[in-house]
Amino acid sequence: MPAETPPAAELVGITKRFGPVLANDGVDLSIARGEIHALVGENGAGKSTLMSVLYGLHRPDSGRILRNGSPVRLRSPADAIAHGLGMVHQRFRLFPGLTVAENVVIGAEPTRRGVLDLAAAREEVERLGELYGLRADPSAVVRDLPIGVRQRVEILKALHRRAEVLILDEPTAVLTPGEAARLFEVLRAVTRAGLSVVLVTHRLGEVLAVGDRVTVLRGGRVTGRFTVAETTADELVVAMIGRSASPARHPGRRAAAGTPYALEVRELTVRDRDGVARLSGVSFGVRAGEIVGVAGVAGSGQRELVDAVTGLHPPGPRDAGAVLLSGRPVLRREAAVAYVPEDRHGRATAADMSLAENLVMGDQRSPGLRRGPGLSAAAVRDRARELVGRFAIRAASVDAPISTLSGGNAQKAVLARELSRRTPVIVIEEPTQGVDVGAQEQIHALLAEARDRGQAVLLQSSELGELRALADRILVMYGGRIVAQIPGDEATDERLGAAMAGTAA
Ligand SMILES: Nc1ncnc2c1ncn2[C@@H]1O[C@H](COP(=O)(O)OP(=O)(O)O)[C@@H](O)[C@H]1O
Ligand SMILES: [Mg+2]
Repeated sequence: MPAETPPAAELVGITKRFGPVLANDGVDLSIARGEIHALVGENGAGKSTLMSVLYGLHRPDSGRILRNGSPVRLRSPADAIAHGLGMVHQRFRLFPGLTVAENVVIGAEPTRRGVLDLAAAREEVERLGELYGLRADPSAVVRDLPIGVRQRVEILKALHRRAEVLILDEPTAVLTPGEAARLFEVLRAVTRAGLSVVLVTHRLGEVLAVGDRVTVLRGGRVTGRFTVAETTADELVVAMIGRSASPARHPGRRAAAGTPYALEVRELTVRDRDGVARLSGVSFGVRAGEIVGVAGVAGSGQRELVDAVTGLHPPGPRDAGAVLLSGRPVLRREAAVAYVPEDRHGRATAADMSLAENLVMGDQRSPGLRRGPGLSAAAVRDRARELVGRFAIRAASVDAPISTLSGGNAQKAVLARELSRRTPVIVIEEPTQGVDVGAQEQIHALLAEARDRGQAVLLQSSELGELRALADRILVMYGGRIVAQIPGDEATDERLGAAMAGTAA
């Protein structure tokens, strides 16, 4: 009897910790030759970590890796490449000023008498392009190319290095639906040629459309293994999020329909420097005592919307429409709009200042904090201690640099500062990204409280469960437009997903 072909790649019992975080917990994953193997799970499930282990970027604490049945040691990506593993990261690693051909061959260049053989490089790009339907003009400069083509360059790069197992980490997060469809064609061509693909994604529609088999991760563990042809979306959703993992709902009282808007956006169109519309005719309103969620695949206009609403992006000459606060256009919005940005360590906190200083930042003129012309250190500390207590922020002391706080506690500190300003409007992005489950529930309760006190909340999140838990209404963005408005209690994954994919009727 002939021996069965061993898997192209196999991970056995992989465990990887980051300090207290158990990112991968005894994970087994087997990738067959010629298959598209989907690796799915919510944010933080451990997908990228597992793939970084397979690509030699992280050393596992325990576990083994086999290629074609033989154990391999991967101490670096160079080792992984030497073993026929290739990876396209979430953030591309291309040189924007170089051409496609140069990017593809760099580090593994064809040379003639010691000089880079550009003609050979161009031919290589054309040959691989032909073979797998990966069209890219070899002499185009990467900087000038759309995202979808840049991604093709990354794939070409891996194929040029003779990858036989191609790992793509959330490749469609940055793509339009058309670009994603083209990518899937490429992946099919690649596997028809006998290569294997690991497709990391949190979008189930993609798994069902192109995957052969799927492994589901939740909390660092495998919670399901399926053959795509024999599974359903429901089965995958349950494996991915578990029935109890959906955060508790915090429903609000429905604001009366006639109530004027605290925040209103009217026919807003925003163009980038090249004149391309990033927002097109966006209109909606948020009433006092209401949380309105904003959903969408990354890059659908959410960023531009938040920048316009918070005043970070002042309207340019080619923009149109209006942002109104209580019915009036207001140019300087700091006083009326509190803002909790996604990048809290960059934009929202001063890393080398103390927790106390961060908590009163922007509030230095408050008479209660002053003594003569300066700030009263004692009053600042008292105020900080009060907020630390009220918002349950865990820190060594209020004098500790904010950079020493955990992600969840730093986020609570920013929230404490912004919510306690009691502005009519609060805009918040990804409030619980990188935050543990306990802190997540506290943050949700704080936002619900702010709403119940009468603040108007605009909440942008990529966690559908979070939007469902908090939002009275969810706006779904696609291609710079609002393509659906779904009441929070009617927002199923299927309805949101269809709207986010731009396929809603
Ligand atoms: N370099 C790192 N240092 C510390 N923690 C990390 C690091 N990379 C990932 N983590 C943590 O490991 C867990 C799994 O993360 P990740 O593998 O990125 O998940 P996914 O790709 O599924 O979203 C998360 O809790 C994340 O915060
Ligand atoms: Mg990831």
